[in-house]
Amino acid sequence: MGEGSTDTPQGVGHGGGRAVSHVPVLLKEAIDFLNVRRGGTYIDATVGLGGHSYEIARRLGAAGHLIGLDKDPEALKKAGLRLSAPGSRQSSEEDWPQVTLLHRSFAEVAKGQPPATIDVLLADIGVSSLQLDDAARGFSFQAEGPLDMRMDPHAERTAEQVVNHLDERQLADVIYEFGEERRSRRIARAICRSRPIRTTAQLADVISAAARPMNQAERRIHPATRTFQALRIFVNRELDDLQAMLRAAPQILKPGGRIVVISFHSLEDRIVKDVFREGSTQGLYGVLTKKPVTASQEESDRNPRARSAKLRAAERI
Ligand SMILES: C[S@@+](CC[C@H](N)C(=O)[O-])C[C@H]1O[C@@H](n2cnc3c(N)ncnc32)[C@H](O)[C@@H]1O
Repeated sequence: MGEGSTDTPQGVGHGGGRAVSHVPVLLKEAIDFLNVRRGGTYIDATVGLGGHSYEIARRLGAAGHLIGLDKDPEALKKAGLRLSAPGSRQSSEEDWPQVTLLHRSFAEVAKGQPPATIDVLLADIGVSSLQLDDAARGFSFQAEGPLDMRMDPHAERTAEQVVNHLDERQLADVIYEFGEERRSRRIARAICRSRPIRTTAQLADVISAAARPMNQAERRIHPATRTFQALRIFVNRELDDLQAMLRAAPQILKPGGRIVVISFHSLEDRIVKDVFREGSTQGLYGVLTKKPVTASQEESDRNPRARSAKLRAAERI
């Protein structure tokens, strides 16, 4: 995190950034900005466990169409059940929209989508509780698991490959750039000396031994938090995908259509802010959130993951 930044590195273990439940973050605020209209065509670019999607679907009605994307086939399976299971619906069978779920990165959100056909695009980016809580996926340093961290299990690059094959300098750059970790060089040196590293717990131990907390503020988070965040972002090309989605969105949004993005750390929020600002100068967007919308105290108390969430929204002109 940059100096003065208040958000918490997300998606790596217990504590501030952990996704503790399947409760969608900033749900009420998102629904307000989504302005769901019956019969509309909506894209949930990060369908996850279907929490936001479900709330969209029940407002769309039978003439509506919900398109859900996720990189993670496991998430799509779970979301599919949630978005179609009889009895989970508050609307009647006849009033349920068409639901299309696609195993796809949101970087390809415009693929096959005719121009100006989407009413709203929602993206609630980052890692899901499903991914975080499964030790076998290798996202968490709190549980021993293989160093994987891929949201899409078919993707080529795993965290193990990154940790064991990048040279020391490249590794330090990744940890610095995507984890905003000031002790990146020391950590990279320790990792290279301890190779091969095969598990999350082994990596967490190496980092903890190399990077003792420097001050009181550092003591509040586990020493491995920023490095795990950095590896996850790098492995999944998260910032590149976000840029690609934001660049593609204006082509597919209808005039008056909206884009709503919920992000969880300053690197992502900065990208969203800059692309919206640029879009506004180019006459593509009217920005609906001068400042990011954040969670209420009540939501943050209930769901610690919400503490670092920031929602930004813009309207296609
Ligand atoms: C925070 S969860 C979304 C939770 C969802 N809003 C809900 O209410 O259940 C983020 C999801 O986005 C997916 N994801 C992250 N990056 C992605 C990308 N580039 N393309 C598609 N899906 C992505 C993850 O696999 C994860 O399932």
